[in-house]
Amino acid sequence: MRVPFLDLRLHHEPLQTELQTAIQEVIESGAFAGGPFVARFEEDFADFCQTRFAVGVGSGTEALWLTLLAYGIGTGDEVITVPSTFMATVEAISFCGAQPVFVDIDERTYTLDPQLLERAITARTKAIIPVHLFGQMADMDPIVEIADRYGLRVIEDACQAHGAEYKGRKAGSIGGAGCYSFYPGKNLGALGEAGAVVTNDQSLYGKIQTLRDHGQRAKYRHSCIGWNARMDGIQGAVLRVKLRTLARGNDSRRAHARRYGQHLGGREDLIAPTEAAYARHVYHVYAVRVKGRDQLLSALAERGIFCGIHYPIPIHLQEAYRGLGLGRGSFPVAERCADEFLSLPMFPELTPEQIETVIRELESQLVSAKSLHESVV
Ligand SMILES: Cc1ncc(COP(=O)(O)O)c(C=O)c1O
Repeated sequence: MRVPFLDLRLHHEPLQTELQTAIQEVIESGAFAGGPFVARFEEDFADFCQTRFAVGVGSGTEALWLTLLAYGIGTGDEVITVPSTFMATVEAISFCGAQPVFVDIDERTYTLDPQLLERAITARTKAIIPVHLFGQMADMDPIVEIADRYGLRVIEDACQAHGAEYKGRKAGSIGGAGCYSFYPGKNLGALGEAGAVVTNDQSLYGKIQTLRDHGQRAKYRHSCIGWNARMDGIQGAVLRVKLRTLARGNDSRRAHARRYGQHLGGREDLIAPTEAAYARHVYHVYAVRVKGRDQLLSALAERGIFCGIHYPIPIHLQEAYRGLGLGRGSFPVAERCADEFLSLPMFPELTPEQIETVIRELESQLVSAKSLHESVV
């Protein structure tokens, strides 16, 4: 049996008619760039995230970048985040002229380790971006407590955490702002690129609305220098349809994670993901940790089981950030995890049979790897 890493066609099949009707409405109205379809999605998404406001933008990267700009962060400022993330988190910091400063991750949740946070703060620090990696939120209480003590902004990177919770509070609703990506493969994905910022802060909301639309408050009246970062009308309409299926999709992901965990949880040669006591994990990615990850990935692919790696190189070791002068050994947990992470197939439509197949093949590869190792030793 072939098990894909992700199957978006299967995900969209039952929504075909609703999606086509929604797209047709946009075509008939002509509201393609921003407009009422985006505004309606913004209302629904703010409700979903338990925030007062949401602003639709072109991508998660723009959501992060515009939030930093709206907070006035730029040249000479430092922003703290983790090296264990997708490039965009750090790129957004650099793109507004600020300096990224890294803090290592917690070995159990793979999110910013609050115990290491305070020592990274300097007189130049302006903000902290905790990343809710793989669908599990960072430990927000101590992060917010430290941020408040130093007068720092907290911007949640919720790009992998649609519907995730921290002590019953939704991702994006705890910091000053939460940034979302609706890249197609996300738990809530558009049919193209899109993103959003959610916030309870009316002033921040107004600034991001202006920045995403060339600094315009009224047509051809530019109060500041902005950008074209509007969400497409079609994506707003599509996301509004798909938002209704998000909670159900997340429940399925959680059920799949339980099934994986029942078999893989007790093994000595593999570390399965854990859900922190404070968290509701939504398993955007189900990443286990194993030694010899690359060989295992290829062996599984040969047997029709397609896995992923999120992410093979932590950001401080990327060529683009060589200038920071942070070599191997700077963030040992993030580095170890990058060497060991293996993302198993995870999407709502996975069947119990497919999950059993992944488990069986994975277990059998681990057993052969062990006997090979023993015969060599
Ligand atoms: C943690 C994280 N931050 C930021 C982004 C950027 O989002 P986008 O691809 O929509 O620009 C992503 C998307 O993959 C992400 O996973």
